[in-house]
Amino acid sequence: MNTREGFSNRLGFILAAAGSAVGLGNIWKFPYETGQNGGAAFLLIYIACTFLICYPLMVGEIAIGRKAQSDAYGSYKTLGNKKWGLIGLFGIICGVMILSFYNVVAGWAFGYFLEISFGSLLQEENFGNFFGSYVADVSDNLLFSLGFMVITAFIVVRGVKGGIETASRIMMPLLFFILIALIAYSLSLPNAMAGVRFYLMPDFSEITFETIYSAVGQAFFSLSLGLGGLITYGSYISKKENIIRSASMITIMDMSVAFLAGLMIFPLVFSQGQEPAQGPGLVFVVLPGIFQSMGPILGKIVGGGFFLLLCFAALTSTISLLEIPVAYLVDQKKKSRKLVVWVMAMVIFLVGLPSMLSQGAVRIFSSLPFYGNKSTLDFVAEVFSDISLPLGGLLMSIFIARRWTFSAFSDEVAEGNPKYKGSFVEKYIHIVIKYIAPVALGIFFVLIVLEKIF
Ligand code: PFF
Repeated sequence: MNTREGFSNRLGFILAAAGSAVGLGNIWKFPYETGQNGGAAFLLIYIACTFLICYPLMVGEIAIGRKAQSDAYGSYKTLGNKKWGLIGLFGIICGVMILSFYNVVAGWAFGYFLEISFGSLLQEENFGNFFGSYVADVSDNLLFSLGFMVITAFIVVRGVKGGIETASRIMMPLLFFILIALIAYSLSLPNAMAGVRFYLMPDFSEITFETIYSAVGQAFFSLSLGLGGLITYGSYISKKENIIRSASMITIMDMSVAFLAGLMIFPLVFSQGQEPAQGPGLVFVVLPGIFQSMGPILGKIVGGGFFLLLCFAALTSTISLLEIPVAYLVDQKKKSRKLVVWVMAMVIFLVGLPSMLSQGAVRIFSSLPFYGNKSTLDFVAEVFSDISLPLGGLLMSIFIARRWTFSAFSDEVAEGNPKYKGSFVEKYIHIVIKYIAPVALGIFFVLIVLEKIF
């Protein structure tokens, strides 16, 4: 039961890790965060953070997993000791909490697929009202998010190779294709250029601490970085794998999908005269408009197809999130994979109920008094993703510099990439992990604490 299975080849790993990265974070979260945080200025900070800080940390995370051949906790423990293992444990908890709300949003996407393809959603007059009542509806949401979790569990039971790879291999190219087609369509609409300007021409006076805070959190979330998911996937790859190249491809794919999603949404937002800063409902409110304008039959096909692909993108992410605690329990507690998958899936589903009910169904969850009357979903997302993932990245950089050591880290990265030693990339990665990441993220946390307290 516990022999470690691996990805079948390089492409398999890249697709699975890119599948983990590309998801609701790119198509749902990135556009609304960009819309709420001033457009192009946010985009710029997000890209800078991705290259300057996240990419080197991603190399670090994958290398830790491959060297230690273990789950998030086990890897820190093997290369460090039990205390360092706490970083991994913290990441596993974040994975559980992120999946708990992520699965709820995935359920919305699935519901939209059904409502567009087989229901009458495209005949609505006000998509904003529709979204508001849709997310507040308990029965549909319960059913769809439970369904989503069950499908996730089914795939994770089959293991990394059979389940995770196959799903990524087919869906990613399709998603890319439909995005490009929708961009072409949305750019042809009246007033589309106002959206392009909002998205691509930075107004630096818009930058606040909030912008930076959200962009950094978004960069980590989007790359599935800082919680040990890439340690887990990294533990399934072979020594022949070129980590530098794989991490570059994953980063570029992930960033491209987010960038394209923005390029699709903002022309549409402006041509429909909508508010870019409307928050988490943005894509659910704006996109049906484009499908409606295509006419009843084409609209159902393209709209249904789009939301179905979004579900697949979300699925390759939920799979990777569920794999984090599962790998831990299989590796450390020597439990049967099948049992662990189903138990964890159900526990996480239950943990997600307050987030699900916080979208208008149950008042105590919808407006938390200690959290500025915002929702439980917002709270969980902020604590376990926006704050915790950069914190996980900071702790990992300290771990590499202080405990694992750079020479051991370099040796691991050089496996499968003999030219790495002495290269520019090696120097760049060291400088980032040794100085830039800890200093920048350190300042970032001091500012967060000051901001939250005062
Ligand atoms: N990167 C995923 C997305 O952008 O949708 C979300 C995610 C998946 C975060 C897996 C963290 C993770 F471990």
